[in-house]
Amino acid sequence: MHAAVLTSFDAPPVYGEQPEPVAEGRGEMVVEVLAAALHLLTRAKATGAHYSSTSALPLVPGVDGVVRDEAGKLRYAVLDDTALGTFADRTVIDPRRSVVLPDGVDPVQIAAAMNPAMSSWVALRRRIEFSAGQRVLVLGATGNAGRMAVQIAKRFGAAQVIAAGRDAGRLAALPALGADETITFDQAERAADVDVVLDYVWGEPSARTMVPLLTARADRGAPLTWVQIGSVAGPTAPVPSVALRSSRLQIVGSGIGSVPAREFVEELPMLAEAVAEGALEVRARAVPLSRVAEAWGAQSDDRVVFVP
Ligand SMILES: NC(=O)c1ccc[n+]([C@@H]2O[C@H](COP(=O)([O-])OP(=O)(O)OC[C@H]3O[C@@H](n4cnc5c(N)ncnc54)[C@H](OP(=O)(O)O)[C@@H]3O)[C@@H](O)[C@H]2O)c1
Repeated sequence: MHAAVLTSFDAPPVYGEQPEPVAEGRGEMVVEVLAAALHLLTRAKATGAHYSSTSALPLVPGVDGVVRDEAGKLRYAVLDDTALGTFADRTVIDPRRSVVLPDGVDPVQIAAAMNPAMSSWVALRRRIEFSAGQRVLVLGATGNAGRMAVQIAKRFGAAQVIAAGRDAGRLAALPALGADETITFDQAERAADVDVVLDYVWGEPSARTMVPLLTARADRGAPLTWVQIGSVAGPTAPVPSVALRSSRLQIVGSGIGSVPAREFVEELPMLAEAVAEGALEVRARAVPLSRVAEAWGAQSDDRVVFVP
């Protein structure tokens, strides 16, 4: 079969021949891959730097995707850390980490949406006590996950969603997705009274946002839950000690590990259904897997989805 093969952490994978996969573990099955997206997580793992990476090479990247199982059913599957990912004609899945998809779904849309959408879906449903009527700030709202977070917070009943980013032009598209207000990172005081922050940025912009936001709160005793989800601006943020003392701020993280994998899987059917019924705007660009090397580093607002 064909696959994208990574032989170095410093270079993109190359399309080539691979041996046919064999199901070895209990309950595993060989499946045909229909669509698999190039997420930031996939790229990070392929540098060997992500916290969930193993360092063994060669490997076939691809952390998730839409597959056709032996019975002809379409499934969205998440792979465990493996040397054989989804950037291949066929791969091996554990069906317990997959969900059977509704009839008639577009594999490319599902493959593009699930990883970025899951980040806020799981954070709001599993990581914190979120309730309808609360106010949410999405920090880093212009990326795929941030745009999903705006829509998902609204879907779960947020009374107000404020979308923050560094680029006013790109923020202007977010009210159409449900944002009540848009702000740049230097206008944090306008989000002073939110209950929840969904933070995709971290690094310096998060630290720069935090103190002005906290200082401007009408009631510093009102709980504020800051959920660390992504780190596009840097892996560490200089959070001043006063931020934690002077207000009822709680910082938590949401991702695999801080939420058990089992709970992620339990959320998959409802999210897949929301995507399948078109409830979320998905930006996807289908690319033949044979063009993996050129698509690997390309900058695109649309999520690249490889189609074997
Ligand atoms: N924990 C989880 O469950 C989970 C799941 C999925 C994703 N994530 C994480 O969430 C983050 C976003 O993922 P994504 O899929 O949305 O990626 P994406 O579509 O590539 O979007 C990333 C966005 O980040 C913004 N950005 C990049 N560098 C920045 C900087 N230095 N300062 C401020 N903004 C910057 C860019 O927005 P502009 O160019 O418009 O400014 C870009 O659109 C990643 O860190 C990813 O690993 C976490």
